[in-house]
Amino acid sequence: MKKTRVAWLPGDGVGKEVLDAARIVLDAVGFEADYLAGDIGWEFWRTEGDAFPPRTIDLLGQVDCALFGAITSKPVKAAEAELAPELRGKGLVYRSPIVRMRQLFDLYVSLRPCKAYPGNPLNFKSGIDLVVFRENTEDLYAGVEFSPVPETLATTLRDLSKPFAPFADLPADAYAVSCKINTKRGSERIIRAAFEFARKNGRRKVTVVHKANVVRATDGLFLETAKEIARAYPDIPMDDANVDAMTMWLLKNPLNYDVLVAPNLYGDIVSDLCAQMVGGLGFGASGNIGDALAVFEPTHGSAPKYAGQSKVNPIATILAAKMMLDWLGQTEKAKRIEDAVAAVIEEGRVRTYDMGGSDTTRGMAEAIAAKVGVMV
Ligand code: IPM
Ligand code: MG
Repeated sequence: MKKTRVAWLPGDGVGKEVLDAARIVLDAVGFEADYLAGDIGWEFWRTEGDAFPPRTIDLLGQVDCALFGAITSKPVKAAEAELAPELRGKGLVYRSPIVRMRQLFDLYVSLRPCKAYPGNPLNFKSGIDLVVFRENTEDLYAGVEFSPVPETLATTLRDLSKPFAPFADLPADAYAVSCKINTKRGSERIIRAAFEFARKNGRRKVTVVHKANVVRATDGLFLETAKEIARAYPDIPMDDANVDAMTMWLLKNPLNYDVLVAPNLYGDIVSDLCAQMVGGLGFGASGNIGDALAVFEPTHGSAPKYAGQSKVNPIATILAAKMMLDWLGQTEKAKRIEDAVAAVIEEGRVRTYDMGGSDTTRGMAEAIAAKVGVMV
């Protein structure tokens, strides 16, 4: 059998140590793969002017899937200031590599399960078991933005849009425009993925998150598309909610929800809320899944202040590795990892600082690895 090829993308800050931790567990469970290291992150932005260099893009074209650590991102001006002197003033613009990766490889599903493992002292309530499906390539993440606003765009908006009137006479640099672009196809495929998941996993319902009462064009399209798709899934009830109300209800009654599906930005926000309810950054894992490639990552950032200290909780990354095995069809190994994570949490003997303990990143990984056993 051909060995699985996994791109190994540690990135910045704590990215390397959490990926090392996941590797300890992947080895212990007996997962065999060729791991191919790829350059990505802030260092490559500073020295090459590209945080996601072409050689790494090529690498991703040649693998089955990837495990990704974390990346530092900064606003445009702060990023430019950190470039090597010879690269400054050349018009290089920093764009988050993970966002580019999602778009370049059409990783349209962001899958973010948030489960309250029994015994986790950080659980907001017990029994929470939410799965967020976030559209991952379009919406306000499309990258179609203008600052300053070109005169041709302003003229067109003056002609086409009445609500543009209050902005019509502003100088080009006195405002900025970011386009929220949602397609029918993009909406359909994420919504269908959510329903398929619900059906396959015996989930109770799908909740569509939007703001169609105000953002009528794009979120209206998303909601209408959801209603159409839902007809093909009479066995799965669907409901919907405005994103603002959703955050209140989620906090109030998290057990009323099951599978959530949202356009990109709302999905970004709501998935952080859901992750926090089950332990926060140390527990949020996610899959960026397309038809040809999938990239798995912890949802936390690079936490530069903890880098190199073996301090942060690797469970998010270990769960990301578990999701990777599920995606590869290695479900038995995936289950053994999840069971081991659950057992270590429940026993409560090994805990990283976020959980009120003093165990290290490595210590946590070893405790989990000790429980997965190796199949011979
Ligand atoms: C996430 C992150 C990213 C996003 C950042 C790092 C660009 O918040 O994966 O949720 O906004 O998608
Ligand atoms: Mg986010």
